[in-house]
Amino acid sequence: MTDDLTVTTTTASYPVVVEAGALASLPVRLEALGLRGNLWLICDGAVESLYAAPLAECLRAAGFTVHTYRVPPGDASKNPAQLGELHTWMIAGGVERRDAVLALGGGVVGDLAGFAAATILRGIAVVQMPTTLLSMVDAAVGGKTGINHPLGKNLIGAFHQPRLVLADTDTLASLPPHALREGWSEVIKHGVIRDAGLFAELEQLADSYGWSESAPGGLWDATDSARTTALSNIIRRAVAVKVEVVSLDEFERGERITLNYGHTIGHAVEQLSHYGLLHGEAVAVGMHAEARIAQLMGMCDDNLVDRQAALLHAYGLNTALPTYDLDAILALTMRDKKVQAKKIRWVLPTAIGTVQVRDDVPDELLRRALRIVDCRL
Ligand code: GLY
Repeated sequence: MTDDLTVTTTTASYPVVVEAGALASLPVRLEALGLRGNLWLICDGAVESLYAAPLAECLRAAGFTVHTYRVPPGDASKNPAQLGELHTWMIAGGVERRDAVLALGGGVVGDLAGFAAATILRGIAVVQMPTTLLSMVDAAVGGKTGINHPLGKNLIGAFHQPRLVLADTDTLASLPPHALREGWSEVIKHGVIRDAGLFAELEQLADSYGWSESAPGGLWDATDSARTTALSNIIRRAVAVKVEVVSLDEFERGERITLNYGHTIGHAVEQLSHYGLLHGEAVAVGMHAEARIAQLMGMCDDNLVDRQAALLHAYGLNTALPTYDLDAILALTMRDKKVQAKKIRWVLPTAIGTVQVRDDVPDELLRRALRIVDCRL
């Protein structure tokens, strides 16, 4: 058993647990937090029979009343009608202020269920239980909740910190290979932005267990306990970076923007692929392009770009820019949420473990960087 991490912000303090088998400790942890009301378990189809049903049974055996709701899979579920259905389900079922929402699944469930918890009865408790690598390392920690608007993703939402984050790394064993693989880009990102030791450990693990065509999920092998323990530990270390950053800057007024490394180009590429590229896959492309921007700006050397690319490849991620029109990419970067006074605030690495925010990247340099990482050349 590992020590819990703790997020401490101006509005909340809560444990973040990252370990194999963590879900089994939920009843005891709810008791310890004083969460004894009814539980509104929101999950997606991928985890319903695997984890939600046994979890509900275990909570009932511990004396809790549990209601379960399955949301349809995919980002399209983050819409006002689906949110309204969750509200109706809870109100019709007699939800009370002392109750808690349990969000079990990936980022879609976490965002939607978190926002339902933030808005029902002006806010009730939520426990985030991420079951994907991407949501463990990023979305489940830090209290961002919300839904999409027809004019853009995540435009309607609220900061609503969870009372507990319970990341059971055993659940990664059931992830499809591509879903596991995309999560590693956020793990690697955390090394680049803040933890050079994490980056070096990831390099060592890649040497021992590197990605291969024959094991396309890369690295995870539930039958090898030494390996899963090593990977759980490294995931915990990556989550610790997020815990640190949101504790410093809950409302993204400073430090938290660094989590967006790779995301300015990444979001543009993701959108141009019409979401054919998974988020983490697009972020890997974005990290490579943005490291190249930093190198052309004279902020870092070639070695950083090469080391980062080698690590992304070792975890099964592609870094080549897909064949999109450069003007279209540039236009989309201007719609990035980090644009302020019409200037993009780029998060750029100066060394492994350190980044700087810059708003003075010339258009011509950006084009040069994109041409260099363009797979057509
Ligand atoms: N996903 C970035 C953040 O939580 O701030």
